[in-house]
This record gives sequence, C-alpha cells and structure tokens, in this order.
Amino acid sequence: MRTCVGIIGGGPAGLLLARLLHRAGVDCVVLERRDRDHVERRQRAGVLEQGTVDTLRGCGVGARLDREGLPHHGVELRFDGRAHRVDLPSLTGGRSVTVYAQTEVVKDLVALQLADGPPLLFGAEVRGVTGVESGAPVIHFTHEGRERTLSCGVVAGCDGFHGVARRTVPARAARTYVQEYPYSWLGVLADVPAGDDELIYARHAEGFALHSMRSPAVSRLYLQVPNGTDPAEWSEQRVWDALSIRLATPDGGWELRRGPITARSVTGMRAFVHEPMRYGSLLLAGDAAHIVPPTGAKGLNLAVADAVALAAALVHRHRTGSTALLDTYSDSCLRRVWQTVRFASWMTTTLHRHPDQGPFEDRTQLAALDRIATSKTAAAEFAENYAGLPI
Ligand code: APR
Ligand code: PHB
Repeated sequence: MRTCVGIIGGGPAGLLLARLLHRAGVDCVVLERRDRDHVERRQRAGVLEQGTVDTLRGCGVGARLDREGLPHHGVELRFDGRAHRVDLPSLTGGRSVTVYAQTEVVKDLVALQLADGPPLLFGAEVRGVTGVESGAPVIHFTHEGRERTLSCGVVAGCDGFHGVARRTVPARAARTYVQEYPYSWLGVLADVPAGDDELIYARHAEGFALHSMRSPAVSRLYLQVPNGTDPAEWSEQRVWDALSIRLATPDGGWELRRGPITARSVTGMRAFVHEPMRYGSLLLAGDAAHIVPPTGAKGLNLAVADAVALAAALVHRHRTGSTALLDTYSDSCLRRVWQTVRFASWMTTTLHRHPDQGPFEDRTQLAALDRIATSKTAAAEFAENYAGLPI
C-alpha cells in the first residue's frame, strides 16, 4: 500500500486530519489499532471551544453537533462561600463553548469517513515506522493477522499518549517536559438531567469538584481524590455527599440533583510536552505530542488545532510544492500548546488542594479567584483562554 499521508491513530486528531486532507484532495490512509466499537465508546471530556465547533462545521461534521450540542455562554466558579459566573461572549467578543461529548465527535467523523472518506482500517496495529529521516517513510503494521506496510510521503503520528510514533524520534533529537500532579479525578456519569445548568468549577477546602454534563439527560461529575484511590471506596452516597459539600452555594439556594451513577473511574493528572512536533517526515499531532491536565477540557481542542495546522501545511505542500508551513508546523503549534498547558495547569493548581497546602497557598488561590470575580480584565483573560484562543 502507498499513500501521501499515512495517519497512525483514529482518534479525534487522526480522523479530523483525514477529513481535512480528503476535502482538499490529498490522499491519506488512517490506521487504527482498536475496533470501531471501542473507539466510539471511549469516555473522554466534552467541552468544545468556539474554534473547534467552527472547524467541525467547516468540514461538514457540524449537523448533529448543531442539533444536539448544548451551547454554553458562561461558567461558574465557586470558592470561599461565593459563586461567580463568568460570561463568555461579553468578555471575548462573542465566543462561547459547546458541550458535546468527544465520543460523539468521533462517531460523526468515523461515519463520514466510512461513507465517503479515504481508507480507515480498524484493527490495524502499527508496530513501527522506518525511514522518517528520509523522504520515503514506511509504516509497518499488522491487520487481519498479516504483516503489512504502508509507504508514505509523510507520516502523521496521531496515536495518542501511548502510541508508537513519538518513540520513533531519537532521544538526542527530542526534549520532553513532564509535570505530575499529586491528586486524581474520580469521575462519575449519572442519569441526572442537567437542566439549564452551566458548568460549575468549585475550589473547596476538601478538594476540587466539577459539575459537567454529557447530554440533557446525563451529568458528568468529578471530585478531586488522592492518587491511588480505588473507585470502589466511593459508594454512590459518598460521591453525592462530597459533591454537595464542595459545590454548595453561599445562600444554599442551589440544590445538587442526585440520581443513579452508571460509571465511575479514577484518572491521574499530568502535563506532558514533546518537542519538536516534527522529526524528518514524521509529524506528531494531539495526545501523541502533548497532554494537558483535564481542568478546562483542553485535550481534544488542542488536538483539533494541531490537525488544522497540519492539514493546512500538507495541503500547501501538495498545491505549491513548498514546505514552508511544514517547516514552521512544530514551532507554531507549540506556542499554542504552551499557552494551553499554562492555562490548564493554572486552573488545576488554583482550584485543587495540594496535599501539602498551607494557609499561604489557600490565600493566594482565593486571591486569584477573587481577582476574576472583581476585575473585568482578569475575567476577560480567563474567558479568552476558556473559550479558546483562535485557531
Ligand atoms: N497503531 C494504530 N493505532 C494506534 C496505535 C498503534 N500502535 N497506538 C494508539 N493508536 C490509536 C488509539 O487506539 C487511539 O484511537 O490512536 C488513537 C489516539 O487517539 P486519542 O488517544 O483519542 O488521541 P488524539 O486523537 O490525539 O485525541 C486527543 O483529547 O480529550 C483528549 O486525551 C483526550 O483522546 C483525547 C485527546
Ligand atoms: C467533562 O465534561 O468531562 C469536563 C468538562 C470540563 C472540564 C473537564 C472535563 O474542565
């Protein structure tokens, strides 16, 4: 097999890249190691920045998103017995976010790709890539029990944090940055209507809590828990009681709706950046190159921004023969990546309770949140980052 762009990974980064290339007439093949059902069921975050929504609409995958996505024009911060709503459009020149689960984005992209897109092979496990230092790289993979190869013009490594693409880059050519956090998220899905609620981020002496949703009928809630927590230690009652305490409003006027919990899991938190995002004919995009802590729901949005930049660079080369945009791909993506890492880690450390936290850190966290509640400039800085920097 031979193609212009060999794409490893059929997550949001790989699928969107394939869609954008296909629309511009650049041929590509997507190799995904899991089966379709698995890819479409994975639970991930679900807040789309304005630029992500615009991108999906612009490439023909906006129909269901427009019907079923929930536009949110604000988020609420709760801290120190206070509740403060940040209005996104008025602070950002009209930008907002949309709640639409990542699994739904993936389903829409897969359906379109299988209907009229370039080849997408499920159950195709990439074992390695050779020749990335040349202009003729080869992807080695197994599919239906056979060893196969895909010869490419370039390889897009969109295979997530645990993928193989990044490992192709020799250590001498790479630099990685890692930050582990000393707490995790216990996430639950509950059959509880979210009503008209917006997302609520709470900083509390007992730890962070987040009230989010997946659809009008399903709520998604998170609690800060110590690393190594076993989800089985958290009965339904314990989860709801902790959420009630951490999310309580000063006047007690807001009531947490409770209901059956249908799934629960504990996820660690880290930031990770691999530089550069290009090595020879290998280009990394999405989680393969970077992970942000989940506060702010930036992972999918960053993957979309990478895919847009990479598609533009590859289409430019296809049309003009110029590698100018490919040559700047890594640097220009990394600027956005670091801005996003900075914002997600700021949200994380401002809203979570560090196990060694003392009164000094309590005060500086509260001062940061008070600043957003009282200064339009500080609120605008928060809102611009939350609604997403322009792609
Ligand atoms: N061969 C083929 N496919 C692979 C291989 C491999 N060796 N290794 C991993 N993959 C596939 C995974 O099965 C997965 O479907 O690559 C895909 C990577 O998808 P994601 O992990 O979803 O990463 P990405 O597309 O970059 O999406 C960005 O945003 O909300 C965050 O982390 C969240 O997935 C999310 C991400
Ligand atoms: C989610 O709904 O999973 C979610 C929402 C907002 C975040 C993080 C995760 O900041």
